[in-house]
Amino acid sequence: MFNSISLKYDLINQMMTFNMDKKWRQIVFKIAIKDDPKNIIDIATGTGDIALCFAQENLQVVGIDNASQMLDIARQKSVKFENIQFQMEDAEEMSFEDNLFDVATVGFGVRNFENLHQGLLEIKRVLKPGKKLVILETAVPSFFLFRLGYFIYTKLFIPLIGKIFANNQKAYNYLSSSAEQFPHGRKFQLILEEAGFENVSIKILSLGIVNIYSATKPQ
Ligand SMILES: C[S@@+](CC[C@H](N)C(=O)[O-])C[C@H]1O[C@@H](n2cnc3c(N)ncnc32)[C@H](O)[C@@H]1O
Repeated sequence: MFNSISLKYDLINQMMTFNMDKKWRQIVFKIAIKDDPKNIIDIATGTGDIALCFAQENLQVVGIDNASQMLDIARQKSVKFENIQFQMEDAEEMSFEDNLFDVATVGFGVRNFENLHQGLLEIKRVLKPGKKLVILETAVPSFFLFRLGYFIYTKLFIPLIGKIFANNQKAYNYLSSSAEQFPHGRKFQLILEEAGFENVSIKILSLGIVNIYSATKPQ
C-alpha cells in the first residue's frame, strides 16, 4: 500500500496536517538527541523525513522500511548526505545485531506493524540497554468537541484528499480508520510496558491528534 502512494506521500502529509507534521518530527528529533546519540535508527522511515533531521545535524543515521518505493524517495531526498543510509528491512525482524543503537525513532509507523508486540520487542533488541525509543503516533482527542471535529475531518476530508491527490481513496480510508482505532495514551503506554520498556512518558500535541511516547530499554 505504501509503495502505491509513495510519490504523493509527502505532499498529502503536508496537506492533511496543515504542515504540522514537520514540527512534530522536529520535536521527535529534539527528544531523541537529548542523550547525545552516535548511532541512530529511524524505523519505518518511509520517505525519510525523521532520518533527515539527524543527517542535517551531522549525526549518523540509518532509516529502515519494508516499502522499497518509499525508500527510493528517501534516497532521492538525501543524496547530498553521506551520514545517512536507507535499508530495506522488516521492523519486526531486523538484520541488526543486539544492543547496537543509541536511540530509535518511529514516526507514524508502529500502527502499521502486522504484529505490534513483536515489532516493539525487536526494537528493544537492537537498542542498547538504558537507551530510548521515541514514537510519534496518531491519537484521538479526548475533549468531545475536538473529537467531533477530528472524526469529521478524518472520515470525510482525508479520504477525499487521498482520492483526489493520490488516486487511492482506499489507502487513505485505511490510514484514517487505523488512526482512529489504534490504542493511544495510557493504553499504548501499557503496550510499551508489556514489551519491556520502562519510564514511558507521553507528550500530547496539537489538541490531542498526535502523541509522542518516549520509553527506555532497561539497563
Ligand atoms: C505512515 S508511513 C510513515 C513514514 C515516516 N516515518 C513518516 O514519519 O512520515 C508508515 C511507514 O511504515 C512502513 N512500515 C510498516 N510496517 C513496517 C514494517 N513491518 N517494517 C518496516 N517498515 C514498515 C511503511 O512501509 C511506511 O513507509
